[in-house]
Amino acid sequence: MACMKNADNKKVYIKTWGCQMNVYDSNRMVDILSGLGYKPSETPDDADMIILNTCHIREKATDKVFSELGRLRAHKDRNELQGKNVLMAVAGCVAQAEGNYIVERAPYVDMVFGPQTYHELPEMVLKASGEKRIVNTEIPSRSKFDHLPDEHTIEGASAFLSIQEGCDKFCTFCVVPYTRGGEYSRTAVEIIDEAKRLVDSGALEITLLGQNVNAFHGQGPDGSTWGLAELICSVSEIDGIERIRYTTSHPRDMDDDLIAVHGEIEKLQPFLHLPVQSGSDKILKAMNRKHDADLYRDIIARLKKTRPDLAFSSDYIIGFPGESDQDFEDSMQLARDVGYASCYSFKYSARPGTPAANMAKLVPDHVAAERLRRFQDLINTQQKAFNKTCEGLTMPVLFDRKGKKEGQLRGRSPYFQSVYVQGNERLIGKIVDVSISEGFENSLTGDIVTTDGQILTGTS
Ligand code: 5AD
Ligand code: SF4
Repeated sequence: MACMKNADNKKVYIKTWGCQMNVYDSNRMVDILSGLGYKPSETPDDADMIILNTCHIREKATDKVFSELGRLRAHKDRNELQGKNVLMAVAGCVAQAEGNYIVERAPYVDMVFGPQTYHELPEMVLKASGEKRIVNTEIPSRSKFDHLPDEHTIEGASAFLSIQEGCDKFCTFCVVPYTRGGEYSRTAVEIIDEAKRLVDSGALEITLLGQNVNAFHGQGPDGSTWGLAELICSVSEIDGIERIRYTTSHPRDMDDDLIAVHGEIEKLQPFLHLPVQSGSDKILKAMNRKHDADLYRDIIARLKKTRPDLAFSSDYIIGFPGESDQDFEDSMQLARDVGYASCYSFKYSARPGTPAANMAKLVPDHVAAERLRRFQDLINTQQKAFNKTCEGLTMPVLFDRKGKKEGQLRGRSPYFQSVYVQGNERLIGKIVDVSISEGFENSLTGDIVTTDGQILTGTS
């Protein structure tokens, strides 16, 4: 194919927004494009292809895409003035939702493709190189995973592995079932093979990913259907894997087996992100969440019984249509009852095309903003209190990058806190014991403990 022959030493720049699924997808795009001779580039300056991998989950997603495209376009224009052809693409969930509108409004964009079509990138690149503009927002019946090449791109010692995609839950505020399509689980064999390859390339920690990850129901090696619990057990048996996490879960899919593995599998880290969205049963019903607040409390209690040190995070939406003062107080109370280690909270914003977008009884913006502020104050207090309880403990920390300050390293504790120490760069990619000296609102600081138990204050 003509374009492939010419593509050697070309560069692709991918800007990624949104969830870890998007980070995973961008890495897979790099892998597939490497087969066409494209190398990843850290900057759009000299790129031959620029991809904006977008997220549609929250407010003004489409506006943000157009303003970023405006910025990226300058690089395309500059390179094209020098006679270099640059392909510009929009991928991800905004591409899926707004494909035709994007090509209409941004004539300089060559390719727009949704999250289920990345495996078709070679054909799309070929067509777009021949001056044809591409809009590909198919949601095929077979998964892209059947077609993607083996992955080469991993982000250091902590790797993501996508096991499930899409969602059948249809929460009334959420675009995911429309942009990512119905629920699809990969087979256990594919996942385990990928996990082994990630370990061979240096991964110590694997985060199993899915929009509704605990709805996983993939085919096991013996043809039976495996749930997430069986998959976690099997992944934990792979030599070299030290830590396992999974995200994002739905309370309805926290079954007995999954709750039990938290007490059985040491490698499964003691931190769980379990979005609840609201503490009010009335609002949960309007959100079509298919669970009430007490079911969530019960799941948390059962999880804590199997793994007493398990720490929790969640997502809450504040100011959903119809949320009264009392409904909001119910969310505050649920958060107090759980006591989070961290928690995300978002002011509700209508997503066009979702059922909630047509709901009445909108909460005035200033009321929602004030509630959000109160909620976030509560969470910040909880987060700081949790981090304070870690002072004086020694924890294994997986170092994944340099910190902002000179000689500083950043790592993650088992509870997913950011931990900063002074240390030698060669510790990046390793799990090292750290004695925690101080807990702040957003992070911990500490000192490395040597194998003979000495604390190396402020040194490597
Ligand atoms: N408005 C506000 N927050 C939203 N989220 C999803 N859709 C919306 C919306 N329309 C939040 C949910 C979800 C997280 C990823 O984003 O809390 O769990
Ligand atoms: Fe969206 Fe999660 Fe609800 Fe699925 S379960 S519709 S991904 S919020």
